[in-house]
Amino acid sequence: MHIAVIGATGMVGRRLVDEAVGRGHRVTALSRRPGQDARVDARAVDLAEAGAVDPHLEKVDAAILTVRLPPGEESALLTLTGHTLDACATARVRLLVIGGAGALRSPRTGARVADDTAYVPAALQSLARTGVDQMELCLRRLPELATYLSPPALLEPGDRTGRYRRGGDVLLTDHTGVSRINVEDLAVAAIDEVEQPGSDRHFTVAAASSQA
Ligand SMILES: NC(=O)c1ccc[n+]([C@@H]2O[C@H](COP(=O)([O-])OP(=O)(O)OC[C@H]3O[C@@H](n4cnc5c(N)ncnc54)[C@H](OP(=O)(O)O)[C@@H]3O)[C@@H](O)[C@H]2O)c1
Repeated sequence: MHIAVIGATGMVGRRLVDEAVGRGHRVTALSRRPGQDARVDARAVDLAEAGAVDPHLEKVDAAILTVRLPPGEESALLTLTGHTLDACATARVRLLVIGGAGALRSPRTGARVADDTAYVPAALQSLARTGVDQMELCLRRLPELATYLSPPALLEPGDRTGRYRRGGDVLLTDHTGVSRINVEDLAVAAIDEVEQPGSDRHFTVAAASSQA
C-alpha cells in the first residue's frame, strides 16, 4: 500500500513509519520540518494552510493523521483536522486519526474520559476535550472514510511485542486498572487497521494482558 503519515516525525508518527516500512509499504512522510529518512518520501507540509496537504493525498491508498500541538495552541487542532478531512474527502482516501484517550467512555461512569477526574486531572480536562471535539468532527464530516483510534491513558515508548487488545469506544484497562500500551504496539494496531479496516469508526487498543 501507499500510506501518507501526517505528523511523521512525532513520537507516534515515527513508529507508524517504522511499522509501515517494515511491512513493505510505501510511505509519504509529512510534517512541517521533514526528517532525513531515506526509506520514505519526506515532504514539508504545514497543515494550517488550507489545501497544502491535498496534493500529497491524491495518489495514496490511505492516510494517517497523528499531530499534536504545543500547550496553548490545541484549539487549532480542529482547523488542521478539518483541512485533512477536506483533502481526504476530495481524494476519496480513507483516514485513520490517532487522537486522544479523552474521547473514550469511562469504564467507571460511561461519560467521556475527558470528564472523569479519575483519569484526567481537572487542570487537563479542557485539553482532553479537544480530543472529543476532534473525534466528533471526524465522524460527523467524513463518517464513511474516517476512523478515530483513541490510545489508552498511558502511551509511552517501549519494546514492540506485536500484540495488543482491541476494544470499542470504552477505555480498556488491565486487571490492576491501568490503561496503557507502548507506542510500538499502538503502531502495529494502526497499520493493521489501515491494511484491514474494521467496522468501528471509533476504537481503542491496549497492551495484551500478559504484556508488562
Ligand atoms: N494517551 C493519549 O491519549 C495520548 C498520548 C500521547 C499522544 N497522543 C496522541 O497521539 C497523537 C500524536 O502525538 P505525538 O505525541 O506523536 O505528537 P508529537 O510528538 O508532538 O508530534 C507531532 C507531529 O505533528 C507534526 N505537526 C505539528 N503541527 C503540524 C502542522 N501544522 N503541519 C504538519 N505537521 C504538524 C510535527 O512535526 P512538525 O512540528 O515538524 O510539523 C510532528 O511530526 C496526538 O493526537 C496525541 O494527542 C495521545
